[in-house]
Amino acid sequence: MRELALNILDIVENSVKANATLVEIDVIAKDNLLTIAIKDDGKGMSKEFLAKVTDPYTTTRTTRKVGMGLPLLKMEAEMSGGSFKIESELGVGTTVTTCFEINHIDRPPLGDLGETMSTLLCNGDLVDYVLNYSVDDVGFSLDTRELKNELDGISLDEPEVLLFVKNYIRENISQIGGAL
Ligand SMILES: Nc1ncnc2c1ncn2[C@@H]1O[C@H](COP(=O)(O)OP(=O)(O)O)[C@@H](O)[C@H]1O
Ligand SMILES: [Mg+2]
Repeated sequence: MRELALNILDIVENSVKANATLVEIDVIAKDNLLTIAIKDDGKGMSKEFLAKVTDPYTTTRTTRKVGMGLPLLKMEAEMSGGSFKIESELGVGTTVTTCFEINHIDRPPLGDLGETMSTLLCNGDLVDYVLNYSVDDVGFSLDTRELKNELDGISLDEPEVLLFVKNYIRENISQIGGAL
């Protein structure tokens, strides 16, 4: 997976499957460090499960025997001088945090975060998302709870809303200096 936005999509899909109601996605660039943190309030994992979760053969999916979302992100981070951390508590939630050296030659580009968010919104509006994006302390946020209030009953997966969200994210990112 050569775009971090796709890794983010994958990790957030885990949160959705874990019945999260709120997923917070932080994409924070500062100095030469890109930190991506994904925090959910889903069902969490036991200590035993957590200890083996970055092993590709750890999965609760039944459609195939390998689960690659977490191992892939860990590998991407480690290949580019970065770090990977996952914390989880049963019944409380899970946080995945990865750091990348921004200038590292092997760091994948961030890719299209607007596409990732609009894809997530297509899942329906049972889950709320908060996206916080910043580069050297200049940034923007998107909170689907606020968006729902403003939309007054219009569903987040309406094509116009998806397009709005995609463009809002793309425009903000380009105003803050363009793609990471
Ligand atoms: N946020 C999360 N909350 C609860 N369980 C999770 C979460 N993320 C991952 N898991 C568990 O870890 C397993 C491995 O995840 P992953 O590496 O993404 O592979 P896959 O999703 O293909 O199984 C999942 O099957 C799931 O049981
Ligand atoms: Mg997964």
